[in-house]
Amino acid sequence: MNKVYDDIAYGDLGYPELHEHLLPLLQPSQTVLDIGFGAGHMCSPVAFANLNIVGLDHNLYGLEHALKCFKEAGLDGLLTIVNAEALGYLQENVTKYNLVMMSDFLMFQRKTDGREMMRLAYDAVQPSGYIWITALSTGDAFYGAMIETQESIDEDTFLSYSPCGGAGPVCFYHPLEIEYFLQSLGAKIVFQTETMNSAGGMVNIILAQK
Ligand SMILES: C[S@@+](CC[C@H](N)C(=O)[O-])C[C@H]1O[C@@H](n2cnc3c(N)ncnc32)[C@H](O)[C@@H]1O
Repeated sequence: MNKVYDDIAYGDLGYPELHEHLLPLLQPSQTVLDIGFGAGHMCSPVAFANLNIVGLDHNLYGLEHALKCFKEAGLDGLLTIVNAEALGYLQENVTKYNLVMMSDFLMFQRKTDGREMMRLAYDAVQPSGYIWITALSTGDAFYGAMIETQESIDEDTFLSYSPCGGAGPVCFYHPLEIEYFLQSLGAKIVFQTETMNSAGGMVNIILAQK
């Protein structure tokens, strides 16, 4: 617990729900595919639990930063980076993992692609393995504020302006939408909640088992 990652104490990384509900289910040496790995912040508690991670992202800069941070935190050897578009990669993938993660990733996909990625991600889970998803939720006043202040692209997608500059489409999921979708694939829901993220958005968290 005294290690740091990217100048942040290990205990502060990731959603508390990940520490509480996901980590106790994992065993050292198991395998993880993290789709939309970024700099690996959300996934790093899983690395500290000694699992072997494939970090997939189309942004090479984030992946290189992750490699540097994992090394500094003594986690090198546990991370393999893959620089690719998620949908194409998943369509080709034949490997099965103990855990597949999509942390704060789905909101950047168009809904039809997002659903297909969830289906393929679930397909990449071994029998009895787990899938962990966090995604922006429509289920609160934050969504109302988005509707008033951001440009609507379609029913689910808004043009969102980042406080750090730049703009991009952001796709919201309804509170139980991901849960119902995973159940339609045969998944058993282990845990589901909605919580505020550090940017003040509402996030849906789902942990399911195959
Ligand atoms: C908000 S970041 C989340 C990063 C990480 N999961 C975390 O929570 O710390 C979303 C990440 O998804 C990646 N991403 C978005 N769309 C992608 C796609 N279609 N294929 C691969 N990576 C994608 C972005 O480059 C970015 O690193």
